[in-house]
Amino acid sequence: MDVATSAARVIDGKAVATEIIEKVKAARDRLVSECGMTPGLATVLVGDDPASGVYVRNKGRKAEECGFHSVQHNLSANTSETDLLDLVAQLNADTQIHGILVQLPLPDQIDEQKVLLAVDPDKDVDGFHPINVGRLATGAGDKAFVPCTPQGCVVLAKHALGNDLSGLEAVVVGRSNIVGRPVAQLLLAEHCTVTICHSRTRDLASVCRRADLLVAAVGRPLMVKGDWVKPGAAIIDVGVNRVPAPEKGEGKTRLVGDVDYAEASQVAGAITPVPGGVGPMTISMLMANTVIAAARSAGREDIAAGLMKA
Ligand code: GUN
Repeated sequence: MDVATSAARVIDGKAVATEIIEKVKAARDRLVSECGMTPGLATVLVGDDPASGVYVRNKGRKAEECGFHSVQHNLSANTSETDLLDLVAQLNADTQIHGILVQLPLPDQIDEQKVLLAVDPDKDVDGFHPINVGRLATGAGDKAFVPCTPQGCVVLAKHALGNDLSGLEAVVVGRSNIVGRPVAQLLLAEHCTVTICHSRTRDLASVCRRADLLVAAVGRPLMVKGDWVKPGAAIIDVGVNRVPAPEKGEGKTRLVGDVDYAEASQVAGAITPVPGGVGPMTISMLMANTVIAAARSAGREDIAAGLMKA
């Protein structure tokens, strides 16, 4: 359906992400001029998964656009766990590197948890180290690195609903470590009443209908239907699913979210599109976390304050 005729306001993730990048660049310039330091981001890709390759390349490119020192390590699919841990140790010790990102998933021969645990928590711009997960879970999120996609979801929710989310009914569909759980923790820290749903949830539709703020992060195309949505609710759709699009021609595909946009946008008050909603936010949050890591290492966290408030 035509977006222009839908009832819901479209939350423009691309525009918000661009505003944040401008602030990141300004913070980077201050770090250079006031502290003589350039924020450094190292990305590590193991294997040749094409989607992961695109993500990592985009992260590296954006870091360069932000004026960061940007280093990319591409390792072969049969890299041993020891070799990867050695590289992480080397990056931990490198004073020019303030943020380390090891792209997930990793090949089967490598224990993902071991690798995440090996990253210096002060350089953990992904926010996946158990220390940062624990900080967020114990309400010390201001000292943590917060995972990028969940942080992006909350920034977009605030764009839709205003800065004060307290008291809202928030329903998160999905309980992954990368999105569902951390987004629920962030919304709890914002004083929402949070419900986490998953594959065993009974009557998912009626739980979703309670939500003033509905976050969908399950990876199931078009799962959330219009009649699952409370009128006027804000919807943050984290799903990125490639589905066949025969209407575009034989063998063609298109990207859709976890939410049936055509239906839900008739009922919701605000909704993120796919693509162009949460997606562009993730990379901006990574750049913000990198500049925060650099500023913290220089004892100048003030320089990176307020980055997420677009
Ligand atoms: N794989 C999918 N999403 C992410 C992410 O946010 N960070 C990393 N490191 N890997 C991912």
